[in-house]
Amino acid sequence: MVDSQAPILIVGAGQAGVQIAETLRQEGYTGDLLLIGNEVHPPYQRPPLSKKWLLEPGALSALSLRGADALVRRRIELKLDTEVTAIDRAASRLRFANGEQLAYSKLALATGALARALALPGASLGQVLSLRSIADSGAISAALRRCATEGRPVVVIGGGFIGLEVAASARKLGAAVTVLEGLPRLMSRVTAPIVSEAFERVHRAHGVELVFNAQVTQLRGSAGCVESVCTADGREYAAGCVVVGIGVVPDDRLAAAAGLACDRGILVDECARTSDPSIAAAGDCTARRLADGRLLRLESVQNAVEQAKSAAVALLGRERPFRAAPWFWSDQYDIKLQMVGLSHGYDQVVTRGDVQKPAFSAFYFQAGRLIAVDSLSRVQDHMQSKRLLDHGLSPTPEQAADPLFDLQSLLREAKPATADGA
Ligand code: NAI
Repeated sequence: MVDSQAPILIVGAGQAGVQIAETLRQEGYTGDLLLIGNEVHPPYQRPPLSKKWLLEPGALSALSLRGADALVRRRIELKLDTEVTAIDRAASRLRFANGEQLAYSKLALATGALARALALPGASLGQVLSLRSIADSGAISAALRRCATEGRPVVVIGGGFIGLEVAASARKLGAAVTVLEGLPRLMSRVTAPIVSEAFERVHRAHGVELVFNAQVTQLRGSAGCVESVCTADGREYAAGCVVVGIGVVPDDRLAAAAGLACDRGILVDECARTSDPSIAAAGDCTARRLADGRLLRLESVQNAVEQAKSAAVALLGRERPFRAAPWFWSDQYDIKLQMVGLSHGYDQVVTRGDVQKPAFSAFYFQAGRLIAVDSLSRVQDHMQSKRLLDHGLSPTPEQAADPLFDLQSLLREAKPATADGA
């Protein structure tokens, strides 16, 4: 039973939630709009939490996604520190932890993801930390400083984005760092070996101890605090603190309990519609089934923002498919890693630039067509590749590898049929 006068409710006040609210207003929705979050802070940006914020935790306002006035001006009501406990789809109502209920005309879910927990003995000891929120980042920043001052090592479990950004920050703060990665190379979920190897050299050059194929078996401690990490090969790594960065789990708990179709995330189509026509979803909590049967999960700011725009439009009964090439970035030391496209299934990689420096791009091809590009401190390659992929254009592998070949020329040649001429 839908009350069309009821507000649109958005669960999750992160990047995707805020964008859904703003797009609803931009698209002309004039009814009541409520953005509900379970954290105490107004909406904030997460990317700096594993980077600059670890080095210099500052005023919360520096992380703010939108000033409070911006939301007020758009008549977006914020309900913070509020836990939604259930979606009653039959009655079109949300239930809250304090027993309250609220009716919705339409609902958007932007519940994000949770840090994957380490399910091992000792994982709940003090100073075993993971990173998702402002509070987590503050705790890690304090622990890294304490380890640097006391001369105790930092052990990072997981050589992915979080682990490596934390390792780089720990070294900048002067702490000894060991990264224990379960697989044979860094960031293997998303990059080719040549990119992993470049980051391996850079981290080693900065004094990080990297251990591959590490099977952590338990964490030991005393007086409730972690003191070491044990691996299956019998080694024990002393630790003043342990940072766990072993991936995320989409938070689809509310959706799954309400019977929405979920499969390691809330299943949405390319317009961000869920299996219930009154409910859309966007951001890290979602997953999409591709035509070839693969499940696509994108954990990125761009996906949160673009999918959120699609979700808002879908709630208004229209379609705005999100098809742009996905992009991500990571800052480690003075290297900016920018990734565009999805490299899964590549059969050829060529590089452009100086692999040793490192200042190069890895171009991923599948059957001769460009599908993704990772750029290390090559901003122009990234920008041009992004345009190429967005327009379905591809250099040959030889052109991509030739630093004298002007990638931009492909866009000019394709104009006006496909290129934007930018
Ligand atoms: P991730 O998936 O990037 O990396 C996890 C790493 O942990 C992988 O290398 C994996 O092989 C390893 N691993 C898994 N289980 C392990 C175990 N038991 N022992 C040792 N190693 C193990 O996930 P991460 O780094 O936790 O980041 C989570 C998410 O945070 C990212 O997917 C992303 O959405 C977001 N993030 C994005 C950033 C960016 O775009 N720059 C920066 C930081 C975080």
